[in-house]
Amino acid sequence: MEALAPSASTAPMTNETNDATDPVLVTAGNGKTGRRLVERLTDRGVPVRVGSRRGAPPFDWYDEATWGPALAGVSAAYLAFTPDLGFPGASGIIRAFAAEAQDRGVRRLVLLSGRGEEEAEASERALRDSGADWTILRASFFAQDFSEHFLLGPVLDGVVALPAGDVAEPFVDVEDIADVAFAALTEDGHVGRLYEMTGPRLLTFAEAVRLVAEAAGRDVAYVPCTPEEYAAGAVAAGVPEEEAGPLSEMFGRVLDGRNAHLGDGVERALGRPARDFADYVRTAAAAGAWKG
Ligand SMILES: NC(=O)c1ccc[n+]([C@@H]2O[C@H](COP(=O)([O-])OP(=O)(O)OC[C@H]3O[C@@H](n4cnc5c(N)ncnc54)[C@H](OP(=O)(O)O)[C@@H]3O)[C@@H](O)[C@H]2O)c1
Repeated sequence: MEALAPSASTAPMTNETNDATDPVLVTAGNGKTGRRLVERLTDRGVPVRVGSRRGAPPFDWYDEATWGPALAGVSAAYLAFTPDLGFPGASGIIRAFAAEAQDRGVRRLVLLSGRGEEEAEASERALRDSGADWTILRASFFAQDFSEHFLLGPVLDGVVALPAGDVAEPFVDVEDIADVAFAALTEDGHVGRLYEMTGPRLLTFAEAVRLVAEAAGRDVAYVPCTPEEYAAGAVAAGVPEEEAGPLSEMFGRVLDGRNAHLGDGVERALGRPARDFADYVRTAAAAGAWKG
């Protein structure tokens, strides 16, 4: 992917050391948002370096020795921390990574963040303090969690148990995240902006599961549970304990209604409304996401 030439339509990047013919580093470039961002960049002729433990060179958030090779000669970077920016210790890693990027002249950094999470907000502060030309995409729950992530198995099994009660969430489509990340990495006008990335309406998890079930043509029930019950179920389903624990604790914090409001990030960044959850379920079902 590194050999592609930049397109003439790509606006120049505000980078003093590297230029637009250098690749953009897309961390988790094989993941939900990164894969779609890589598609958009390559379609427009922007060279890309996929940041992943299986990439060339390999990139691992938990192995600082891999950061330098991944950042070498890069024009800009998309930061999607895995497993989750809300996990303990994430902000220290983002702070150190952003500092190394600045040392290497990679000025433009676009961070994917989460809403209502203290650790994610600490990462946002670390990025803002780093001196980078930063943009932050602070995202709500992904719609694609139901088809490409931890809720796919439960949908196929017919029971989605979550510690979410009847709280409402404005699920965001990751296609919109990729569109905004693409804009922030390739256009002027997004530096120093924090975009609250949500869908256009609030849905309870019961309503979202019903829309998924209808589109999938399956019987799927939503069952509210406690964070402890969620963690036990996740471990039983094969999620490693070191991920299930922090994940359920994070759900216990953020699914208390604090995020039950809409953000205008998609509209502000792109000048168009965010994609609706109904469009997401139609597209995912047509692509066979819930065929099993
Ligand atoms: N899911 C949500 O609802 C939601 C909502 C708001 C914000 N977020 C944020 O979204 C971010 C994740 O973005 P995403 O969902 O687009 O990514 P993702 O789909 O979770 O990315 C998965 C990829 O990350 C790579 N990866 C795993 N561990 C890694 C490591 N230690 N170092 C480097 N790469 C690693 C893996 O590739 P390899 O195996 O090849 O390394 C994997 O293919 C998180 O920070 C989370 O906080 C998520």
